[in-house]
Amino acid sequence: MSPSRTIALSEQLSTEHLLGIKDLSAADIELIFRTADGFKEVLNRPIKKVPSLRDITIANLFFESSTRTRVSFELAEKRLSADVVNFSSSGSSVSKGETLVDTVNNILAMKVDMVVMRHPDPGAAMFLSRHVDARIVNAGDGTHEHPTQALLDAYSIREKLGKVKGVKVLIVGDILHSRVALSNIFCLQKLGAEVMLCGPTTLMPRYVRSLGVRVEHDLNKALRWCDVANMLRIQLERQGGDGIANFPSLREYAMLYGLDLERYQRIGKEVVIMHPGPINRGVEVTSQVADHANSIILDQVENGVAVRMAVLYLLAARIPRTVV
Ligand code: CP
Repeated sequence: MSPSRTIALSEQLSTEHLLGIKDLSAADIELIFRTADGFKEVLNRPIKKVPSLRDITIANLFFESSTRTRVSFELAEKRLSADVVNFSSSGSSVSKGETLVDTVNNILAMKVDMVVMRHPDPGAAMFLSRHVDARIVNAGDGTHEHPTQALLDAYSIREKLGKVKGVKVLIVGDILHSRVALSNIFCLQKLGAEVMLCGPTTLMPRYVRSLGVRVEHDLNKALRWCDVANMLRIQLERQGGDGIANFPSLREYAMLYGLDLERYQRIGKEVVIMHPGPINRGVEVTSQVADHANSIILDQVENGVAVRMAVLYLLAARIPRTVV
C-alpha cells in the first residue's frame, strides 16, 4: 500500500487526539497497523519520504527526557513532510514560571496544527486537549499512558509472530511506575492477547487485580507460560530517595527478576524478548539476552517510526482544513 491523502470516512480513527490506548477501539488499532504497514514499505525505499503532511505543522513538546520517542516522532514527521518545531522545557520560559497552557498557546499562536507532548504529570495530554485548539498526541504522561509505545510493541509482536490474538505476553518488572505497562495491557487485551504481569509485590499497583491480567511473582514460572517477555525498565527516577525505594538493591532485583542467558535457556522454548528502552543492561536483561537472536528490541525501535507516521497521518486526516 502506498498511503495517499485520501482516507474513506469509514477508514478514519474514532478519536481526534491520541491521549491513551484506553480511548481506541480494536478497529482503530487495526487501522493504525494497516497504515503503518504501508509506511514501513515507504521507509524501506531509497527515497523514504512522502508528501502526506506537507501542509501540517507539528510541535514536539518534551517536558521530560526522551531519546527514542523524541527522535522517532521527529523522524516520522519529517518522513511525512510536515513542518516540525521542537521544544524542550530545559532552557525554556517554563523555568520562569510559565504555565503549560500559556506555553502551548504561545506556540500555537505561531499556527501549529498538532502537538506531540511528553510530560511528567499523568493527565497532562488530556488537560491540553481540553484547553488548546490542536490535535494532541500523548508521548508519555507520567505513570499514566504511553500509547505509541504500546502500539509499536503490539505491531512488533504481530510482525514477529503473525498475530496478536491468543499470544501470551508477559510484562516483567516495575509495573507500578510504568505507563508502558498500562498502555500495553489495554492494547494487548483489545487485540485478544493474554497478559501476565510479573515482579515484586512492591512494584505492583494496588489496583492490579482490576486490570483483568494474571499476576505471577516467580519469574521462572512466568517465563514458562509466555510466548513473549517484555522486560520493563526499572524507573529509578520515579522511586524517590536514592532511587531504590521499592526493593533492597539492584543486585537482588536482577537476581530475582532479571533475564540472563542461563535463565533464558532454562525456559526450554523460543520466547520473544522485548524491552521498551532505555535498557539498564545487567539489571532487566543482560547484554547476551538484549542482543539475542530472539530479541526484537531494535525492531521495536524501527517499527516505532512507521507506527508514529500512521498515527500522525490518521489524526491529520481529521483536521478540517486538511485537503484530503
Ligand atoms: N521507550 C521510550 O519511551 O524511550 P524514551 O524515554 O527514550 O523516549
